[in-house]
Amino acid sequence: MKETTRFLCVLLIIGLTQSRHPSPDEAALDFIYKNMDDTANPCQDFQNFSSGNFEALHKEAKLYDLQDSIRDASTGKLQIVLEKLRDRVFIDESSAEGKALRFYETCLNTSPSRQLFFSFLELMPPGEDLPWPTSRLRGSRWPEERFEWLEALARLRRFGIENLLFRMNVVQDWVDPNHFVVYLKRPTYPTILDENSNKDILVGIGILKKNHPSINTLVADIMALDDDLQNLPPEESRSYTLSIEEFEDQTGIQLSKYLEISFGRPFDPSFEVKIVGMGYLEGLKAVIEKYTNKVVASYMIIGIVRSLIQQQLVLKTGSNHQVQCSTAVRRHMEVASEVLYKDYYFRQGRLQRYDRAVQQMFEVFRAAFLKRIEKNRLNLTAEEQTFVKQKLRAIKVRLGSLPNVPDQRRFVNDFYSDLELEKHPTNLAKILLNILEHRTRHTLKQLDRPTPKGNHFFRLEELGYILQTEPYYRTSNLVVVPYDILQEPYFSPDQHDVFKVSLLGFSMIRAVLENFKPYNMRFDNESNYSEFMENFGENFAYVEATNCLDRSKESSQLNEHAINVLALKLVYDTYFGEDSKFSQEQPSFTKLPLKQIFLLNFAQNLMYKWNTVRLNQAVRNLNDFGEVFNCPADAFLNPETKCEIW
Ligand SMILES: *[C@@H]1O[C@H](CO)[C@@H](O)[C@H](O)[C@H]1NC(C)=O
Ligand SMILES: *[C@@H]1O[C@H](CO)[C@@H](O)[C@H](O)[C@H]1NC(C)=O
Ligand SMILES: *[C@@H]1O[C@H](CO)[C@@H](O)[C@H](O)[C@H]1NC(C)=O
Ligand SMILES: *[C@@H]1O[C@H](CO)[C@@H](O)[C@H](O)[C@H]1NC(C)=O
Repeated sequence: MKETTRFLCVLLIIGLTQSRHPSPDEAALDFIYKNMDDTANPCQDFQNFSSGNFEALHKEAKLYDLQDSIRDASTGKLQIVLEKLRDRVFIDESSAEGKALRFYETCLNTSPSRQLFFSFLELMPPGEDLPWPTSRLRGSRWPEERFEWLEALARLRRFGIENLLFRMNVVQDWVDPNHFVVYLKRPTYPTILDENSNKDILVGIGILKKNHPSINTLVADIMALDDDLQNLPPEESRSYTLSIEEFEDQTGIQLSKYLEISFGRPFDPSFEVKIVGMGYLEGLKAVIEKYTNKVVASYMIIGIVRSLIQQQLVLKTGSNHQVQCSTAVRRHMEVASEVLYKDYYFRQGRLQRYDRAVQQMFEVFRAAFLKRIEKNRLNLTAEEQTFVKQKLRAIKVRLGSLPNVPDQRRFVNDFYSDLELEKHPTNLAKILLNILEHRTRHTLKQLDRPTPKGNHFFRLEELGYILQTEPYYRTSNLVVVPYDILQEPYFSPDQHDVFKVSLLGFSMIRAVLENFKPYNMRFDNESNYSEFMENFGENFAYVEATNCLDRSKESSQLNEHAINVLALKLVYDTYFGEDSKFSQEQPSFTKLPLKQIFLLNFAQNLMYKWNTVRLNQAVRNLNDFGEVFNCPADAFLNPETKCEIW
């Protein structure tokens, strides 16, 4: 009797869990249904029709598009991994996971408070034995005359604060992707807020008291400094290569000193750097010297505070603490996070299964694009065709951003081996700055070696790409498929092909096609610079093809639109083509026609408002679109002429 009850209980539990876990197909379909706004007209406004409800559903969580949605899901899953680590009895403190856990727990033990800003400022002083002019000076005078803005900037740079006064990054060279270069440019976001916010920061940090007679003058000076910077020549698209010596002559900025502090090693004056926005850099020093050191230091403090907030280095009150802390681990220890996530969610043969599914899909579309190249609509010469085909054959698709080496754990442990953390850290700012300093040091050190090739490709970045969740292209003939997108409802090897191809398939092929944008045609199959097809952008047939696209909006982005148009055509036409290897069976779980499912799921990739034109271009030029949604012949999204790219 007892046995029977237990048996029934087990059955019940299985039944319950099954009802709580929809199948991969149900999950994908549910995602579409939830996001759809079927009051919109698909023939006029396919974006709202396919995903118009998404924003309202996720307003509170501040999610705006597919990327956000994926990131939100995988951060939640990373949190589970971190919580499991907390429960473990033994953990090697010196391993990457030991360090990630220490960071996570320190974060959990810290309450959000203004104190953190003071800690950061204290730990990143502008000079040796020189503090920032905050209330912590406790009445003693700030030795203003000892402040040097360039030194202060370089010291901040060591912690990855890099978007202040000017930017200096180590990036893959855009002329020779096989090397890294030092890249200087003007900052990309306005440092300064409105008058009241600035005043709040100054008072909050204690630079001046709220009723101090000179507070309004200080705020006005800071705003004027910012105005002067904004009025420097705008960024041109042209880039320059200058030696440090030449740069110093032209700008008066002591770059050698700045680089020496940032990198922790001297540079030869003949060392060459790349610059975009020379006019700005030429005017920078004179602008800064118009103002007192107090004004400049205050301006920089506002920039630091903004940067701390923007990079989510300070905890916010009122948001979920655990979520904030797992987000912080993911963001600031992304190398450790990736391997922790991968090893937890892709164990027991899952990794191989997912990889196989992704690679198989890629091979189908690679073959389809090869066929298209051979049809030669662009009238390429035989040599040009060979060049393009070799580029295509050389592309590798890889899961994850880490090098594809046999022992990734070891790679990651080695990476963090020189990250020193206190045994029992109590100060979140301190541990975070240790982590940032370490990460920045490694990012800058990339300058000393060639770009790793093939399976070993790996690159640390600072310019905001770290959190990509959709497949992305790298100039070294590589497309990375982040693990984040390899989860339900977005992708599962067990889904019906229609879901796999329309969402991940499309975004992966779009990333592959980046390699064939006019700009990237200057790189051959080994990402060496080659002038052979450098002028591809002027190819008559290609110009005709892109001219055919709706030029009325965002015409500067025509090449971008062209990729979306072509990627959709490739995946859709291959999927529904005569010799298709994909399942074209109408799924039993829905009455929605297969072709509609395909296009609705595809559209999730482009649900963000900024992508309206991209989405419209893609569907307007798909032969089948009008028929699939019964659009009248004159409908906006069903024009008579369809453009063919490639
Ligand atoms: C989509 O719907 C929103 C809200 O109803 C509306 O404001 C917007 O104009 C629509 N978009 C288009 C392209 O019509
Ligand atoms: C690139 O093309 C050359 C022939 O031009 C070939 O020898 C080489 O193996 C190719 N490299 C890759 C990575 O495909
Ligand atoms: C690319 O450049 C490297 C180094 O200069 C060279 O060894 C290699 O042969 C080049 N590859 C091609 C396809 O020209
Ligand atoms: C390609 O060449 C053929 C034959 O020379 C010509 O008829 C055709 O118009 C060309 N196509 C394009 C798109 O330029």
